Amino acid sequence: MRTVFLSTIVFLVLLINHVHCNEDEHHKALVRAQLARAKSIQEALIILKTSSKAGRMSMVAPEALKKEQQEIFTTARRLNKNGRSLTEPRNGGCEPRVICEPVPVDRSSGNNMISYPQCLEVHRCGGCCQEAQFPCVAVEEKPVTFSPLLLISLDDTDKYEINRPWTLMNHTKCECKCGKTENQCQREGKVLDATLCQCIKPRCTPECLISSTCSMIPDSNEPKCTCRRRLPGQTSNYCSNANQRPNAMCTRCETVSG
Ligand SMILES: *[C@@H]1O[C@H](CO)[C@@H](O)[C@H](O)[C@H]1NC(C)=O
Repeated sequence: MRTVFLSTIVFLVLLINHVHCNEDEHHKALVRAQLARAKSIQEALIILKTSSKAGRMSMVAPEALKKEQQEIFTTARRLNKNGRSLTEPRNGGCEPRVICEPVPVDRSSGNNMISYPQCLEVHRCGGCCQEAQFPCVAVEEKPVTFSPLLLISLDDTDKYEINRPWTLMNHTKCECKCGKTENQCQREGKVLDATLCQCIKPRCTPECLISSTCSMIPDSNEPKCTCRRRLPGQTSNYCSNANQRPNAMCTRCETVSG
């Protein structure tokens, strides 16, 4: 009896720590995501201020808000007033960036054929995202058809041909998007935490007792307390009834009240 009681306390302490730690991780992930989008030192300072605990409190009143803004503005100006040869850093965030795509030249028409222009400028998504699991991807793109393109023979520069028009995709809007999917996590028996973009262990309500673990079961989006072995009277290692969970020894399903 005593051991059960003690282990329950240990379990609760662990659980509380887990919840806190998760909240903290979420907060950090959100700050990282916001900072990744900030365009200037001033914007970065605003994010720092609004996401600090003290900041959130002090900005409730309009006068306080005004004062904070003034302070941030002054600080940003002071920070930027460095030597003449220094450049204010611009955040290399996720956005459409110019790249050069070489125009393909049909080599069968001779080695001395070149294209004009040789390369075409289009935009592609690139830049830093908050963390590696968030790739910078295009969420909008438009086809652009380039013409005329000249096909020039260096053997006889009196003549040139008009190459066929060439269509390239131009990225017009980018986002740092989580690269993990709900399905990927489910295959590991976990759930997707979209803020952290990580597969995390699912939480069961009510909590699982000591011999079972909370995990995703196939063909369901509800996690269940699962035992190592099939439960007596059940078709699987979890309780099919939603109001039931395996008892502490995983010997039967018990009904959870409330
Ligand atoms: C490609 O998209 C960018 C905006 O993302 C735009 O500024 C640029 O003009 C577009 N390029 C072409 C060739 O249409």
